[in-house]
Amino acid sequence: MARFSNGPDHIRRRALALSLLDSVGDLREAAFARTREIVAGFETFDVMAEIARPVPVGTLASALGLPDVSADVALVAAAYHPHVVPGAAAEAALGRLITACGAADELAAARIGLLVQACDATAGLIGNELFAWLSGKAVGQPVLATRRRIGGEDVTVPLAGTPFGAGPRACPGSRHANALATGVLAALRGFRLTAGETTWVSSPNLRMPAVLRVTRG
Ligand code: HEM
Repeated sequence: MARFSNGPDHIRRRALALSLLDSVGDLREAAFARTREIVAGFETFDVMAEIARPVPVGTLASALGLPDVSADVALVAAAYHPHVVPGAAAEAALGRLITACGAADELAAARIGLLVQACDATAGLIGNELFAWLSGKAVGQPVLATRRRIGGEDVTVPLAGTPFGAGPRACPGSRHANALATGVLAALRGFRLTAGETTWVSSPNLRMPAVLRVTRG
């Protein structure tokens, strides 16, 4: 995938990802409808587990012509950085994603790359915006630093106030992510935070809720 490629491989793989994103229409309505359907069954629930993680990936997968592979994408997303050694569950999930995408080629890698990149970052965007909206306390950007693979080394690059990055590796999905977040948040009107049950992801690179419980009314 583009994210951990360099030189001509990065340029070609990024162009493939961009052309796939160009083929995707406005995701706002689809994210709204998907969220509404899920929350209809709940009074009190954890937004991160039920909505912020599965809905963006499920909506994007459907727009890319794929089945709802959000559970497998979450497993792969937790394991795809070069410094992490993937376990058996992540490898099995990746195998199923490749099957869902048809073949182990660059097109499949581009599709999987989009879904994996969308997963935690868009969950963070939604979690932070919802928390700020319901609590009145600003949280800031969910992704604080990015990792690159340069000359075989893993390098951490601080994002310093540019939530979607900048330059030739800037996030190509910012418009899609914002549309997904807007649709999800519109569908969560009418919910409020339950008292004192927000916990935060413990990672130096991420600032986003791990658990964000809300209830109706
Ligand atoms: C639909 C949702 C999203 C998709 C499809 C997506 C897709 C991608 C892809 C394919 C890349 C790699 C680009 C490359 O290497 O040339 C990327 C990079 C990046 N994305 Fe996203 N993304 C999404 C959501 C987000 C969100 C919500 C954030 C943060 C608020 C974010 C922040 C970033 C950053 C900072 C990079 C740059 C990484 C670097 O410079 O090394 N993305 N994204």
